[in-house]
Amino acid sequence: MADRYAVIGHPVAHSKSPWIHAEFARQTHQGLDYARIEAPLDGFERTVEEFRAAGGSGANVTLPFKAQAFLYCKDAVTDRARAVGVVNTLIFEKGAARGDNTDGVGLLRDLTVNLGCKLAGARVLLMGAGGAAQGVLAPLVAAGPRRLVVANRTADKARALARRYGASAGGGYEDLRGEQFDVLLNATSAGLADEAPPLAAGQFASGALAYDMVYGRDTPFLVLARAAGAATHDGIGMLVEQAAESFFVWRGVRPDTAPVVAALRGR
Ligand code: ATR
Repeated sequence: MADRYAVIGHPVAHSKSPWIHAEFARQTHQGLDYARIEAPLDGFERTVEEFRAAGGSGANVTLPFKAQAFLYCKDAVTDRARAVGVVNTLIFEKGAARGDNTDGVGLLRDLTVNLGCKLAGARVLLMGAGGAAQGVLAPLVAAGPRRLVVANRTADKARALARRYGASAGGGYEDLRGEQFDVLLNATSAGLADEAPPLAAGQFASGALAYDMVYGRDTPFLVLARAAGAATHDGIGMLVEQAAESFFVWRGVRPDTAPVVAALRGR
């Protein structure tokens, strides 16, 4: 029987992960099944246990369960998952579950490898202070930007996150006045509500790169960034790169992400 994997979330019907992993499996000739499992909001652990008992080899975890997934295997998490405090990849081994996080490396690989963006020495703005921002802040700090500022509508949350992960500063959008950034990353959910964080055009440095972790839509942030002269990208590359890293963790084989990103864009 093929090895079984799944994405566990709520809701999960929209997830592209089954399609992405099926493409990776086809490309690398790996025999595996990858399903969608919607766990009840109060039943994450039970759902994971059932999937393991049914022979599951691993799972991706998505909203809103990434923090619960960390607690589920907190005695056995990778360093990079411990650094961010959330887990998006579970590895089931004989009697044990290990937790990993591939979101940070997914974003960094998309930015630096696919998009040719230099983070070392750059002035970077990370918008948002929820789970998505927390999941990528530690690897961003490690990439060595000249300045890394966290901004959030609720300023205190950004301050706390910046302090915890050693970013240069954290605060509200009004605190950004007069600052310019080379790389502007939107980790807020504003785009899902057709809104943008309140940035001014003057905050995009010449040649800036603007990135929205939301994918599949031209968010108001990307529209604003383009009008300010920035190069704009949605989060589809990050989605595929984090999936590729999970696939590598499970299978020991690294798929070629470029054709998968291209196919998703064309769908
Ligand atoms: P996720 O796990 O996707 O990060 P979350 O934890 O609910 O989701 O966090 C959503 C983030 O988007 C928060 O930083 C939120 O700001 P607040 O902390 O002030 O709520 C931010 N956000 C949501 N809508 C926004 C909007 N219209 N403008 C600016 N920020 C917004």
